[in-house]
Amino acid sequence: MMRPNSVSVLPSHAAPQFKDKPLGGSGSPRSPGALFGRLTLRRAILATGGLLFVYIVLSTAFGPGVGKDGAGYPVVKHKERNPYDEIPNPIPDSSGHQAGAEEVVPIEQYRPHQVPPVQIEPADVMNKAVVEDIPNEGSDPEADQERVAGSGSGTGGAGLMVDDEGNVAPGTEPNEELESEEDKVVAATHLARKASGVSYAQMLSSTRRERDYAIALIIREANLAVRSTDVYSVTNKNQTAPSNDIHDYLSLSKYYWPNKSRPNGLPYRRIDGHVNPEIETVRDYRLLRTMIREVHMMGMAYHFTGRKEYADKCAMRLKEWFLDEATYMNPNINYGSLRKGEKLGARTGVLDMFTIFRVFDALHYLKQEPSWPKDLVPRLQEWFTRYVKWLETSTLAKVERKGNNNHGTYFDVQIIAIYLFLGRVEDARDIARQALHVRIDQQVTAKGEQPEELERKTSWYYSVFNLQALMTLARWGDDLGVDMWFYEGPQGQSIKKAVDFMLPYALADGVGWPVENLKGFDMTDYLKCLQIAWHIYGDDKYLHAIDKLEPKVQRDMDEGKIKTISTFMCDMSTLLEATTRGGQGLIWHWCLT
Ligand SMILES: *[C@@H]1O[C@H](CO)[C@@H](O)[C@H](O)[C@H]1NC(C)=O
Ligand SMILES: *[C@@H]1O[C@H](CO)[C@@H](O)[C@H](O)[C@H]1NC(C)=O
Repeated sequence: MMRPNSVSVLPSHAAPQFKDKPLGGSGSPRSPGALFGRLTLRRAILATGGLLFVYIVLSTAFGPGVGKDGAGYPVVKHKERNPYDEIPNPIPDSSGHQAGAEEVVPIEQYRPHQVPPVQIEPADVMNKAVVEDIPNEGSDPEADQERVAGSGSGTGGAGLMVDDEGNVAPGTEPNEELESEEDKVVAATHLARKASGVSYAQMLSSTRRERDYAIALIIREANLAVRSTDVYSVTNKNQTAPSNDIHDYLSLSKYYWPNKSRPNGLPYRRIDGHVNPEIETVRDYRLLRTMIREVHMMGMAYHFTGRKEYADKCAMRLKEWFLDEATYMNPNINYGSLRKGEKLGARTGVLDMFTIFRVFDALHYLKQEPSWPKDLVPRLQEWFTRYVKWLETSTLAKVERKGNNNHGTYFDVQIIAIYLFLGRVEDARDIARQALHVRIDQQVTAKGEQPEELERKTSWYYSVFNLQALMTLARWGDDLGVDMWFYEGPQGQSIKKAVDFMLPYALADGVGWPVENLKGFDMTDYLKCLQIAWHIYGDDKYLHAIDKLEPKVQRDMDEGKIKTISTFMCDMSTLLEATTRGGQGLIWHWCLT
């Protein structure tokens, strides 16, 4: 099922990785007993899968304009936090947003968690046949298994068409030898619906509310972005890079501080884990990330509302940052993460650009606006053709690529996204293939530790950060015919092991974490990793962990400690894609940044 208004960036032979795997499976075929012995919660989720599928299909089929014009979505007060800062910065966001100027409806009203689902008798609303074709309601998994396996009871079973009298429709008689995985899932879904005690209407109702909440959050961000009148440009700064060219991107190294034993403090020295607030005196980094984030949010808001103002502002921002005569950025990061006293930036500065895939994602939607400037994407492609040349050839970028920690992984994330934007699919595929060995084999141990990240002072943060990069790569691997999700290195290194290694510590609030860790155990991003892990690997332990950790993250959001967007869209699209390879992964990326 191709999303009707998505645009494929990939050739049609891109391999559907999950086709040959059991649905939601772990790579090995699952016995019916294992399948049906799973928990009710999982069944409920399976059941909602179908609903979400219908939901996504409907919402994408109508495309921009769904939900009327979006005018009904509330704008809500929130506290600022740039979710893409690696570590929350002590300096307040200087991007010019005035939070709080325009609240309308408390977001709580859109929180499905807090609004009890409507109470409707299942019999009133559900298709009778759906209820009744599962005979002998019961919660005994063994019994369920027997019935569903079609063990000759003649009363129906997996995927059968059964009429009100219990007669099996012609041509759908049980076939004991050839019961497909799909039959089992269909049967499990029916059983799960019954077992969960949640009616279809209740599910619809809460899905709708969760969706409204998610879109409200996006539109709130997008509206702030539309109203922002700051200039986002590298030419804003009042000091230039050592090149003296105002169009050269410049950012200061965040963990470098003046050496107090020297009269001018130069050269700066490293204090890992401690961010030097002086980085805020050069705003190129913050403006770049703000531009990318806002274009992404407005691109999504455009997708959901069809409002031209979002597309117009995106076009303006992209021209401003990359192309306009007065404000463009040169296509290089020669002066990223500059340590004062040095002539060239550090290789680590290359990381500054990694979220650029969000812009490319947004362009898929924005290009559909009739008034979208037709020359803009080609001109951006020209810019990125020059920039990717720099990524491929400059010494800084070459050293960054060799980085054995998150820097190397995010180099891959960045360059794959750009290759895909430029249509260089084979180059993207090469990166994905190499990542199996260069990233997973080398960065994850047999036990799932990420040793390079454990060495950092903020070891929890960086372990999650690198995991997100690995998962982002794995998502592209899906499209490129490279299965990173289920890949195991020679010692059994894998993405799943990296998730699993962190899991007990996450559940214990970090207690027992084996290495030093400054700045606590924030669960926001790890929770996203768990959501993805659940959808990909289908292991109930992730679901239990989500159940435990999500309320904490929600509480932090409510108290304004963190700002994030709902990952509901990400859940829907991951669920869809992890099992049926349905979309292009564009919404999916929300999980990962
Ligand atoms: C700071 O400067 C002093 C004096 O030049 C030098 O001895 C010391 O190594 C420097 N510290 C670092 C961490 O570079
Ligand atoms: C340069 O910019 C920084 C940050 O925007 C600002 O704090 C500082 O006052 C400016 N300096 C001058 C000389 O304008």
